Amino acid sequence: MVIRKLSPDDSAALFELIDIIEADLPDKSFWLPIDKLSRDNFLNDEWTEFYGAFDGGILAGASALFYNEHEYGGSKRILGLDRSNVAEIGRAMVRPEYRGRNLLFKINSVLLDVAEKKGIEYVLSTVHPGNIPSRSSLQKLGMNKAASCVKNEIYPRDIFLIELKKEEK
Ligand SMILES: CC(C)(COP(=O)(O)OP(=O)(O)OC[C@H]1O[C@@H](n2cnc3c(N)ncnc32)[C@H](O)[C@@H]1OP(=O)(O)O)[C@@H](O)C(=O)NCCC(=O)NCCS
Repeated sequence: MVIRKLSPDDSAALFELIDIIEADLPDKSFWLPIDKLSRDNFLNDEWTEFYGAFDGGILAGASALFYNEHEYGGSKRILGLDRSNVAEIGRAMVRPEYRGRNLLFKINSVLLDVAEKKGIEYVLSTVHPGNIPSRSSLQKLGMNKAASCVKNEIYPRDIFLIELKKEEK
C-alpha cells in the first residue's frame, strides 16, 4: 500500500471513491453533503490536500486536510481558536473491502505531519457521535473531543482537536 498526495490526475479515482462511499454509508448522517465550492476545490492545493492509499492502481482510501474557513470556520469559532493557524481533517473514506486495516489512521498520520510542517497550530475534525470507526481512529491519532455542535442544522457533530508541536527554534 502506497500513501501519497492526490493530484488533479487522480480526480476520476477520487470521485469514484466518493460515489462508492456515499452509496454504502452505515448511516446517512455520518456524511455531510458535499457542496459545489468544496468539490471544485478538492484538488486545489491552496484549499485542500487529499492523501490516498493505493493498492496497485486502486484508490483504497483517502482523507483530506482543509486549509479554508469555508470548511472549518464554524468549528474554529466554537473552539475559540479565531486567532490560531488551524486546519481540518475530513472526508475520511475507505472502500468497504479495505476497512479494519488501520488505513484511515495511516493516511491521517501523514496528514498531521504535513500540517505540522506547514506550521499549523491546531488540527480539528468533526465526527458524528455514533461513527465509532472514525472516532476511534481520531483518538488513536491523539485527538480528543473538545466540543459538540450541529452542522447544517441537522447533523450532530463532535469536534475533535489536537495541538501540534511547535517547531523547535
Ligand atoms: C471511517 C472509515 C474511513 C474508517 O476506515 P478504516 O481505515 O477502515 O478504519 P478501521 O477499520 O481501522 O477502524 C478504526 C477503528 O474502529 C474500529 N471499528 C471499525 N468498525 C467498527 C464497528 N462497526 N464497531 C466498532 N468498532 C469498529 C476498528 O476496529 C478500529 O479500532 P481500533 O482503532 O481500536 O483498532 C470507514 O469506516 C469509512 O469509510 N466509513 C464511511 C465514511 C465515513 O463515515 N466517513 C467519516 C466521515 S467524518
